[in-house]
Amino acid sequence: MPHFGDYQHEIYSAGLSGTVPRFPVDFATLEARAQAAMPPSVLKYVQGGCGDEHTQRANAEAFRHWGIVPRMMVDCTARDLSVKLFGMTLPSPVFMAPIGVTGLCTQDGHGDLAAARAAARTGVPLTVSTLTNDPLEEVAAAMGDTPGFFQLYTPRDPELAASLVQRAEAAGYKAIVVTLDTWVTGWRPRDLNDANFPQLRGHVLQNYFSDPRFRVMLGRAPEEDLRAAVMAWAGTFGKVLTWADVPWLRSLTTLPIVLKGICHPEDARRALGEGADAVYCSNHGGRQANGGIAAIDLLPGVVEAADGAPVLFDSGIRSGTDVAKALALGATLVGVGRPYSYGLAIGGAEGAAHVLRAILAEADLLMAVDGFPSIAALRDAGAVRTG
Ligand code: FNR
Repeated sequence: MPHFGDYQHEIYSAGLSGTVPRFPVDFATLEARAQAAMPPSVLKYVQGGCGDEHTQRANAEAFRHWGIVPRMMVDCTARDLSVKLFGMTLPSPVFMAPIGVTGLCTQDGHGDLAAARAAARTGVPLTVSTLTNDPLEEVAAAMGDTPGFFQLYTPRDPELAASLVQRAEAAGYKAIVVTLDTWVTGWRPRDLNDANFPQLRGHVLQNYFSDPRFRVMLGRAPEEDLRAAVMAWAGTFGKVLTWADVPWLRSLTTLPIVLKGICHPEDARRALGEGADAVYCSNHGGRQANGGIAAIDLLPGVVEAADGAPVLFDSGIRSGTDVAKALALGATLVGVGRPYSYGLAIGGAEGAAHVLRAILAEADLLMAVDGFPSIAALRDAGAVRTG
């Protein structure tokens, strides 16, 4: 039975004939390579966060104060990292988080399609942002047999919201991820200092421009007057959602609904009680608010409140070890964010697939060495807070 950790055999075997990997396997080298490859405006947008970026650093650093206690004398020659979610069996516990400038991360401007091809190659689901450079239908078509999720930034216009959700359902997406923390953009000094906001320059708005309802709202083709189209987008972006909107969101689709941005146990309980199918614990990678608490430190409370319902998690995942710790703390599915953007930047679909395979290999090998043949075993063991 093949294992994700076998990726290292591939790498070492290629080394015997003098070939070293095209892409780095560690995050620090990956980020350095991406820094050199990306145009400064895109790099700053991806790399930057809110305020002095304390929260986004804390997200990653906090994994260091969680540890996994190894167990010995357990046969881990066969390992099962598959996950059951929304009636599907996914081959691994990892997914790609929604990243709204994915389209800009590859030099051809079709990074969303490249990310979808990375999903097809790895079986790792892609969460497609509302903000893309290619319409959601085309992105879905590039995913092959790998399931995808659609992330909704809920427009103020309810018909546009319904249209986007219905398009996602028709295109075969398996869940709608509604992001709760972004009705307004957080204070991002790196972008503010350069007065750079990609959407206002007409980037990543193809889901809107291709939408029949948006085109009716605009009253003409977006291509005829880009400025007017961007202004129409700005006018409808960012509905303020409250709990009272959950039944309406629920009424838009039969797909599972995942609420993203849940960090408080009471919000987790309420989300599930109001009809969400899963909660997604995330602080948006520290891009939206600089509140200071790492998302991984909030995960255990959300998992407890979810009481067995699925909990997706992201914010600060940089390695397979981080994935294993998030699983040990109870996450059902763990989201990789910035690392796959960097993979796209240095190598398109191949680069992103490599990043995902490297992360999965590291998680799998940690489980092999530390005596956890399954995610259930890892979760039962839990993680220990060391500081
Ligand atoms: C994001 N994120 C995000 N989230 C979302 O729901 N819709 C979106 O369009 C975006 N766009 C976006 C752009 C960029 C450049 C980044 C870095 C992030 C947040 C994303 O889904 C996830 O929560 C974070 O990326 C997690 O943080 P790390 O692990 O990437 O630091």
